[in-house]
Formats: sequence, C-alpha cells, structure tokens
Amino acid sequence: MTTIRLVQGDITQQSADAIVNAANSSLYGGGGVDGAIHRGGGPAILEACRALRASHYGKGLPTGQAVATTAGDLDATWVIHTVGPVWSSTEDRSEQLASCYRESLRVADELGARTVAFPAISTGVFRWPMDDAARIAVETVRNTPTAVEEVRFVLFDDRAYEAFVRQLG
Ligand code: APR
Repeated sequence: MTTIRLVQGDITQQSADAIVNAANSSLYGGGGVDGAIHRGGGPAILEACRALRASHYGKGLPTGQAVATTAGDLDATWVIHTVGPVWSSTEDRSEQLASCYRESLRVADELGARTVAFPAISTGVFRWPMDDAARIAVETVRNTPTAVEEVRFVLFDDRAYEAFVRQLG
C-alpha cells in the first residue's frame, strides 16, 4: 500500500531513496527543479546524463519516459529524470503527464526505491495548470501498482501545495 504525503519546500532538501527531476529531453539541465537538482547534486549527475545520451538516449529522453542516475551530493540514492509534456490548449497531453509518474514509479521499482519524492511536473516552465496537474499526479499514483511505500509530493509554494491538498481530498 503506497502512502502519499505532501510537503511544501525545496525538493533538493529532501531525503528519499529517489528524487524525481522535471527534466528536459536533453538531460543537460535547465531551470526550476532541473537547475536546482543539478546545482545541489553536483557534476556527477550531469556526467551520468551525458553517459546516457552517449549510450541509450542519443536523441534525448522522450516526453513521458523516465531514467535514473546517481543523485550525486543530494540526500538520495538516485535521481529519476522524467520529461513532462508542455501544456497545450489544443491538444490533450494528459496521458503523457500521467506517463511521467507511471514510468518514474516503474523505474523506482526496478531500483528497489521505497521512498520517492516528486515535484509538480510540467507546472512551471511547461505551464500546465496546477489543479489539473495535481489531479493527474494523484490519480496516476493512486492507480499505479508499485512496491514504493511512500510517494512524497514536494510542492514549492502555497498555490501548488493547496492544489494537491484539494486533490487528496
Ligand atoms: N523544489 C520543488 N519544486 C520546485 C523547485 C524546487 N527546488 N523549483 C521549482 N519547483 C516547482 C515549480 O514551482 C513548478 O511548480 O516545480 C514545478 C515544475 O516546474 P519546472 O521546474 O519549471 O519544471 P517543468 O514545468 O516540468 O518544466 C521543465 O523547465 O527547468 C526546465 O530543464 C527543464 O526544460 C525543462 C522544463
């Protein structure tokens, strides 16, 4: 049975088996969560990402997929990088966002991770409306069989935190 917890704060300050990164397909870092994780985790993460690009992900990590690297200096064993969809008002990309959570849990199970910290994927630079993103995140985690014991949503601000509180009901 997976427990879902909500925390307001900086995901790079969390202690967990795996911390999920809202990455971009290049895996070479960026702003927001991606920038914070690479800054906090140090160069070992980027080195591991470059190795992934040189091997299995020559064209980058596709949207909705997930891949793990070392967590470097973060208080975690792994970072699970996943690429969220950019919000579109004309195309329903909900399945791609759900896939980020589903695939991250699949990777976590492969690793044997028991605690996984997620950010609110796609709700920053990728502009996904917070309430809908929270709905997809909570529903997907609730409906995905996994050995992960604790899923922790780490929300950066009140707006995000309240949105997830509403979704947990
Ligand atoms: N801890 C927790 N949450 C954070 C942190 C942090 N340190 N920094 C930002 N956030 C929140 C944002 O407020 C937002 O709610 O994470 C959510 C996701 O925002 P982004 O990091 O912008 O991620 P996303 O919207 O998925 O866009 C990904 O942005 O940084 C680039 O390289 C990244 O191209 C990729 C894109």
